Amino acid sequence: MIEPEEFLKFLKERRSIRTYLDKMISDKELEMILEAGRWSPSASNKQPWEFLVIKNKEILKKISKKAFYGIHIKRAPLAIAIVGKIKENPNYYIQDTSFVSMNMMLMAWSLGIGTCWIGALERDAVKEMLGLDKNDNLLTVLPMGYIKGNIPIPTLRKKLSQISREV
Ligand SMILES: Cc1cc2nc3c(=O)[nH]c(=O)nc-3n(C[C@H](O)[C@H](O)[C@H](O)COP(=O)(O)O)c2cc1C
Repeated sequence: MIEPEEFLKFLKERRSIRTYLDKMISDKELEMILEAGRWSPSASNKQPWEFLVIKNKEILKKISKKAFYGIHIKRAPLAIAIVGKIKENPNYYIQDTSFVSMNMMLMAWSLGIGTCWIGALERDAVKEMLGLDKNDNLLTVLPMGYIKGNIPIPTLRKKLSQISREV
Protein backbone atom coordinates (compact mmCIF):
# COMPACT_ATOMS: atom_id res chain seq x y z
CA MET A 1 0.00 0.00 0.00
CA ILE A 2 1.09 3.55 -0.70
CA GLU A 3 1.65 5.85 2.24
CA PRO A 4 -1.60 7.94 2.33
CA GLU A 5 0.01 11.38 2.76
CA GLU A 6 2.34 10.63 -0.14
CA PHE A 7 -0.59 9.47 -2.26
CA LEU A 8 -2.59 12.63 -1.61
CA LYS A 9 0.47 14.72 -2.46
CA PHE A 10 0.84 12.74 -5.69
CA LEU A 11 -2.80 13.38 -6.60
CA LYS A 12 -2.45 17.08 -5.86
CA GLU A 13 0.72 17.44 -7.88
CA ARG A 14 -0.61 15.90 -11.10
CA ARG A 15 -1.07 18.55 -13.77
CA SER A 16 -2.38 18.57 -17.31
CA ILE A 17 0.69 18.75 -19.52
CA ARG A 18 0.57 20.30 -22.97
CA THR A 19 4.22 20.30 -24.05
CA TYR A 20 6.21 17.13 -24.57
CA LEU A 21 9.73 16.09 -25.45
CA ASP A 22 10.21 14.79 -28.96
CA LYS A 23 10.95 11.32 -27.65
CA MET A 24 8.89 8.15 -27.83
CA ILE A 25 7.63 6.65 -24.59
CA SER A 26 9.27 3.33 -23.88
CA ASP A 27 7.31 0.16 -24.58
CA LYS A 28 7.51 -0.83 -20.93
CA GLU A 29 6.01 2.47 -19.78
CA LEU A 30 3.32 2.39 -22.45
CA GLU A 31 2.37 -1.08 -21.32
CA MET A 32 2.12 0.11 -17.72
CA ILE A 33 -0.20 2.94 -18.76
CA LEU A 34 -2.39 0.53 -20.73
CA GLU A 35 -2.37 -1.89 -17.80
CA ALA A 36 -3.53 0.89 -15.48
CA GLY A 37 -6.45 1.39 -17.87
CA ARG A 38 -7.17 -2.31 -17.99
CA TRP A 39 -7.45 -2.48 -14.20
CA SER A 40 -10.00 0.32 -13.92
CA PRO A 41 -13.30 -0.42 -12.24
CA SER A 42 -16.39 -0.81 -14.39
CA ALA A 43 -20.06 -1.37 -13.71
CA SER A 44 -20.72 -5.12 -13.40
CA ASN A 45 -17.08 -5.49 -14.43
CA LYS A 46 -18.13 -5.28 -18.08
CA GLN A 47 -14.91 -3.54 -19.18
CA PRO A 48 -16.67 -1.96 -22.17
CA TRP A 49 -13.60 -0.40 -23.72
CA GLU A 50 -10.85 -0.45 -26.26
CA PHE A 51 -7.62 1.55 -26.25
CA LEU A 52 -6.09 2.69 -29.53
CA VAL A 53 -2.42 3.68 -29.40
CA ILE A 54 -1.71 6.33 -32.03
CA LYS A 55 1.93 6.98 -32.89
CA ASN A 56 1.47 8.00 -36.52
CA LYS A 57 2.41 11.70 -36.75
CA GLU A 58 0.07 12.36 -39.67
CA ILE A 59 -2.89 10.95 -37.77
CA LEU A 60 -1.96 12.93 -34.67
CA LYS A 61 -1.82 16.08 -36.78
CA LYS A 62 -5.20 15.36 -38.33
CA ILE A 63 -6.82 14.69 -34.94
CA SER A 64 -5.29 17.88 -33.60
CA LYS A 65 -7.13 19.82 -36.31
CA LYS A 66 -10.40 18.33 -35.10
CA ALA A 67 -9.89 19.50 -31.53
CA PHE A 68 -10.92 22.96 -30.40
CA TYR A 69 -8.12 23.20 -27.84
CA GLY A 70 -5.90 20.27 -28.70
CA ILE A 71 -2.89 21.62 -30.51
CA HIS A 72 -0.83 19.56 -28.06
CA ILE A 73 -2.07 16.36 -29.73
CA LYS A 74 0.25 16.99 -32.63
CA ARG A 75 3.12 17.86 -30.27
CA ALA A 76 2.85 14.49 -28.53
CA PRO A 77 4.84 11.42 -29.56
CA LEU A 78 1.71 9.39 -29.03
CA ALA A 79 -1.89 9.54 -27.95
CA ILE A 80 -4.30 6.94 -26.66
CA ALA A 81 -7.87 7.04 -27.90
CA ILE A 82 -10.18 5.67 -25.21
CA VAL A 83 -13.22 4.09 -26.76
CA GLY A 84 -16.39 3.08 -24.95
CA LYS A 85 -18.27 0.10 -26.38
CA ILE A 86 -21.76 1.38 -25.80
CA LYS A 87 -23.50 -1.93 -26.43
CA GLU A 88 -21.36 -3.70 -23.82
CA ASN A 89 -22.46 -1.42 -20.97
CA PRO A 90 -25.11 0.99 -22.28
CA ASN A 91 -25.83 2.69 -18.95
CA TYR A 92 -22.29 3.10 -17.69
CA TYR A 93 -19.81 3.20 -20.57
CA ILE A 94 -19.05 6.89 -19.91
CA GLN A 95 -18.29 6.34 -16.24
CA ASP A 96 -16.30 3.19 -16.99
CA THR A 97 -14.11 4.82 -19.62
CA SER A 98 -13.69 7.97 -17.54
CA PHE A 99 -12.09 5.87 -14.83
CA VAL A 100 -9.81 4.41 -17.49
CA SER A 101 -8.64 7.87 -18.46
CA MET A 102 -7.94 8.81 -14.84
CA ASN A 103 -6.06 5.60 -14.14
CA MET A 104 -3.96 6.15 -17.25
CA MET A 105 -3.23 9.77 -16.41
CA LEU A 106 -2.14 8.88 -12.89
CA MET A 107 0.01 5.97 -14.05
CA ALA A 108 1.63 8.24 -16.64
CA TRP A 109 2.27 10.93 -14.05
CA SER A 110 4.04 8.45 -11.81
CA LEU A 111 6.37 7.72 -14.74
CA GLY A 112 7.14 11.39 -15.46
CA ILE A 113 4.88 11.28 -18.49
CA GLY A 114 2.47 14.16 -19.00
CA THR A 115 -1.04 13.80 -20.39
CA CYS A 116 -3.98 16.06 -21.04
CA TRP A 117 -7.65 15.19 -21.37
CA ILE A 118 -9.10 16.48 -24.65
CA GLY A 119 -12.76 17.34 -24.38
CA ALA A 120 -13.75 19.50 -27.31
CA LEU A 121 -13.26 17.11 -30.18
CA GLU A 122 -15.15 16.59 -33.42
CA ARG A 123 -15.79 13.04 -32.39
CA ASP A 124 -17.53 11.77 -35.50
CA ALA A 125 -14.69 12.95 -37.73
CA VAL A 126 -12.04 11.43 -35.46
CA LYS A 127 -13.97 8.17 -35.17
CA GLU A 128 -13.99 7.93 -38.94
CA MET A 129 -10.24 8.62 -39.11
CA LEU A 130 -9.61 5.85 -36.61
CA GLY A 131 -11.93 3.42 -38.34
CA LEU A 132 -14.21 3.19 -35.33
CA ASP A 133 -17.72 1.84 -35.39
CA LYS A 134 -20.37 4.60 -35.41
CA ASN A 135 -21.95 2.91 -32.39
CA ASP A 136 -18.85 3.24 -30.24
CA ASN A 137 -18.17 6.27 -28.08
CA LEU A 138 -14.89 8.08 -28.39
CA LEU A 139 -14.44 9.35 -24.85
CA THR A 140 -11.22 11.23 -25.46
CA VAL A 141 -7.88 11.18 -27.14
CA LEU A 142 -5.19 11.47 -24.48
CA PRO A 143 -1.95 12.91 -25.84
CA MET A 144 1.07 11.97 -23.77
CA GLY A 145 4.81 12.35 -23.64
CA TYR A 146 7.76 13.04 -21.39
CA ILE A 147 7.27 16.46 -19.89
CA LYS A 148 8.98 19.34 -21.65
CA GLY A 149 9.73 22.49 -19.67
CA ASN A 150 8.41 23.41 -16.28
CA ILE A 151 5.44 21.77 -14.70
CA PRO A 152 2.60 24.34 -14.80
CA ILE A 153 1.69 26.04 -11.56
CA PRO A 154 -1.21 24.33 -9.80
CA THR A 155 -4.62 25.21 -11.15
CA LEU A 156 -6.97 26.66 -8.54
CA ARG A 157 -9.36 24.43 -6.68
CA LYS A 158 -12.52 25.37 -4.84
CA LYS A 159 -12.20 25.14 -1.09
CA LEU A 160 -13.40 21.98 0.62
CA SER A 161 -15.81 24.10 2.65
CA GLN A 162 -17.46 25.22 -0.62
CA ILE A 163 -17.93 21.76 -2.04
CA SER A 164 -18.46 19.40 0.85
CA ARG A 165 -20.92 19.34 3.67
CA GLU A 166 -22.33 16.96 6.22
CA VAL A 167 -25.99 16.05 5.89
C1 LIG B 1 -13.66 16.50 -19.33
C2 LIG B 1 -12.40 17.31 -19.52
C3 LIG B 1 -12.18 17.96 -20.73
C4 LIG B 1 -11.01 18.67 -20.93
N1 LIG B 1 -10.76 19.22 -22.17
C5 LIG B 1 -9.58 19.80 -22.41
C6 LIG B 1 -9.24 20.24 -23.73
O1 LIG B 1 -10.01 20.06 -24.68
N2 LIG B 1 -8.03 20.80 -23.92
C7 LIG B 1 -7.14 20.97 -22.90
O2 LIG B 1 -6.05 21.49 -23.16
N3 LIG B 1 -7.42 20.58 -21.63
C8 LIG B 1 -8.60 19.99 -21.37
N4 LIG B 1 -8.89 19.50 -20.11
C9 LIG B 1 -7.92 19.70 -19.01
C10 LIG B 1 -8.43 20.72 -17.97
O3 LIG B 1 -8.32 22.01 -18.51
C11 LIG B 1 -7.61 20.59 -16.68
O4 LIG B 1 -7.77 19.29 -16.16
C12 LIG B 1 -8.05 21.59 -15.61
O5 LIG B 1 -7.77 22.90 -16.02
C13 LIG B 1 -7.34 21.35 -14.28
O6 LIG B 1 -5.93 21.41 -14.46
P1 LIG B 1 -5.01 20.20 -14.01
O7 LIG B 1 -5.44 18.98 -14.80
O8 LIG B 1 -3.60 20.63 -14.35
O9 LIG B 1 -5.20 20.00 -12.54
C14 LIG B 1 -10.05 18.79 -19.88
C15 LIG B 1 -10.29 18.14 -18.67
C16 LIG B 1 -11.43 17.39 -18.49
C17 LIG B 1 -11.63 16.66 -17.19
